[in-house]
Amino acid sequence: MQQLTSLEELRAWRAQLTGTVALVPTMGNLHEGHLKLVDRAKQLADHVVVSIFVNPMQFGANEDLASYPRTFDADCIALAERGAHAVFAPSVADVYPRGLEQQTYIEVPGISEILCGASRPGHFRGVATIVAKLFNMVQPQVAVFGEKDFQQLQVIRLMTRDLSLPVDVIGMPTERASDGLALSSRNGYLSQEHRTAAPILYRSLQRIADDIKAEEKPETALQNAASVIEKAGFTIDYLELRRREDLAPATASDRELVVLVAAFIGTTRLIDNLQFER
Ligand code: PAF
Repeated sequence: MQQLTSLEELRAWRAQLTGTVALVPTMGNLHEGHLKLVDRAKQLADHVVVSIFVNPMQFGANEDLASYPRTFDADCIALAERGAHAVFAPSVADVYPRGLEQQTYIEVPGISEILCGASRPGHFRGVATIVAKLFNMVQPQVAVFGEKDFQQLQVIRLMTRDLSLPVDVIGMPTERASDGLALSSRNGYLSQEHRTAAPILYRSLQRIADDIKAEEKPETALQNAASVIEKAGFTIDYLELRRREDLAPATASDRELVVLVAAFIGTTRLIDNLQFER
């Protein structure tokens, strides 16, 4: 597996490739969820590039940029074992040569300001900008993302369509621990007590979906689940039923739905979602 640590190295490697390229963008600290994205990418293209870049532009001032887990050597071992062809891990200076303040950015209006975007202003601007830059750097035909960050996936889909970028954006189902907790690099922040409580999020999403499919009023299903989640020690940021395509509030005629949650346990903010039809 090639280790490419600068844009120059990436471009030289990319220029001599024939065949198609799939990109798996990550911030590292890879778990089985990321590695499943690599498996899928290998089915979709001849060459798989995994980017590892903890993107400062998508972190707020009081967020965990400094403490975000960085495990580059272990990540490279896992990626080589999984058969990725290259890892691209540029420096912040390589990605943002004029600094963050001066950086041209991409804003996907509407969807970037709701849910996680409301709690984390500027987050999706940072995500859309880095993903567009990675698409330009790597020039992939296809890019694979996890559905755990469902809003992020929809932001990236809209950005790709709006800017006519020639990249197929593929979403992959969330990888879960055996008790249902969505795999996430931030799970490593959880104490034993909080880790034990955490699967209530996914169980609650399942309960909401079951209740709504059984014709319970969505407000009642959401309220019941919110009480259960709060009793388990979480502070809810949002728990919402949305139309899947654009994350607008779900109306009675919408069939393709997603229920999304963000909640704090201690200082750790976890997100999860469940797509369903009614
Ligand atoms: O999901 C992530 O790990 C990041 O938001 C992404 C897509 C790699 C952009 O930095």
